[in-house]
Amino acid sequence: MKVSLVGSGYVGLVTGACFAEKGHDVVCVDNDTAKVSMLKSGQIPIYEPGLQELLRKNVDAGRLRFTDSTEEGTRHAQILFIAVPTPPHEDGSVDLSFIESVTRTVAGALGKYTIIADKSTVPVKTGEKVAETIRRYNRTKSDFDVVSNPEFLREGSAIADLMNPDRIVIGVMDERPVPLLRELYAPFDCRNMIITDINSAEMIKHASNSFLALKISYANALAAICEASGADVRQVVQGMGLDRRIGAQFLNAGIGYGGSCFPKDLAAFIKIAEQLGYDFQLLKEVQRINSNALDRFLKRLRTELWVLKDKTIGVLGLAFKPNTDDVRNAPSLELIRRMQAEGARVRVYDPRAMEKARAELKDLVCCKDAYEAARGCEALLLTTEWDEFRKLDLQRLKTEMLHPLVLDGRNLFDPVQMAGLGFVYRAVGQSSPPSK
Ligand code: UDX
Ligand code: UDX
Repeated sequence: MKVSLVGSGYVGLVTGACFAEKGHDVVCVDNDTAKVSMLKSGQIPIYEPGLQELLRKNVDAGRLRFTDSTEEGTRHAQILFIAVPTPPHEDGSVDLSFIESVTRTVAGALGKYTIIADKSTVPVKTGEKVAETIRRYNRTKSDFDVVSNPEFLREGSAIADLMNPDRIVIGVMDERPVPLLRELYAPFDCRNMIITDINSAEMIKHASNSFLALKISYANALAAICEASGADVRQVVQGMGLDRRIGAQFLNAGIGYGGSCFPKDLAAFIKIAEQLGYDFQLLKEVQRINSNALDRFLKRLRTELWVLKDKTIGVLGLAFKPNTDDVRNAPSLELIRRMQAEGARVRVYDPRAMEKARAELKDLVCCKDAYEAARGCEALLLTTEWDEFRKLDLQRLKTEMLHPLVLDGRNLFDPVQMAGLGFVYRAVGQSSPPSK
């Protein structure tokens, strides 16, 4: 089947690569000509495990190509996906100008029946606006259908998420596009494909991401109570998660959620609800707990070091989560900015995200590994739970430090082992010192 994706960012590239891998004939479009040249030369601007290899394999097989022409993508496609950014305005509402301008270009280039599928995360009722816009600019009066097909990829495991999805959601205005969409997804494991109306599909994405963020904030609220009471949040969520109605995932307390989706999608969903006449207090509280998680972490650091001015502090992890180089809304970056504002000197190490973080922060001392980052530090903060950090030689790490204080923002280390090694160890939702 002939598929185009407009917007070769994270979502567009992963989706394009997976469709091609399943045998479809794919064109990835991007209006950034430098990015298209880079992609044509076999390079990608992001780190995602397996993605570069998958793209290369499918380009070589003739199932995938890149262009900067949306018109060319439109002419190629039986199904055209829109995967351009939907960034937030200052007040949290969604900037739909990229979607709108792509829609106009696509409408002007239509020459045959085409399904236009929205993959970007958009407010409910956007599909209706897209359809209206296409009708207005559709010079050839070609037939078309607009559908919503939200993505649920997680960075770091995006290919596996798409190849074996929990569910595929397709929102339609009528039944006509359904057979082609079923054909598109036939090579995937799509036992859980659901067909909904288009407004519901759009809302499923915001509702899902907000619910996952809510779970994380619930765990972070529990962490605050655990720290004060002597309970251990890791044990509490383990006990909760065994109840299948609750589930164990997304209950890890830490320094809060970040990334390009949760913060933006929560703000958007709150705004959408407000515009529809509902005050979504519950989600406002989720946001408050999330920023409070970072505040509490910093407060704990201050409790230990008293003042941060002129202290050398090491930070392990810059990416908003492991297995990505993405630092968009990474809690670690916010933490570093605040520590620097208080006069601390910050040494950092991340296996992948150093280059992108350097573009966002100034006065960073970037180190070649965790040991170098720990050198001469009065405190070491663990902010992203990379596997590499699980395997550290902790004894060696300790000898590098001026003072063996570790604040673990992702509960990666074993408190008993850390205490045994002579660290002053503080973790989220665990009272200190740890009990045996
Ligand atoms: C994007 C949206 O931000 C998100 O809301 C949605 O769920 C999926 O698509 P992502 O792929 O992470 O997420 O965005 P990004 O990495 O910023 O990539 C978007 C790409 O679109 C960029 O490469 C940009 O150059 C391109 N683009 C932007 C176009 O091709 N045309 C435009 O008009 C605007
Ligand atoms: C999220 C959704 O999971 C995905 O379905 C959607 O398509 C895009 O948004 P992503 O942002 O890539 O994916 O990462 P995710 O794994 O959801 O993590 C988001 C943030 O939550 C990270 O900062 C992570 O560290 C944090 N998190 C996650 C926690 O703090 N605790 C947890 O238990 C889980």
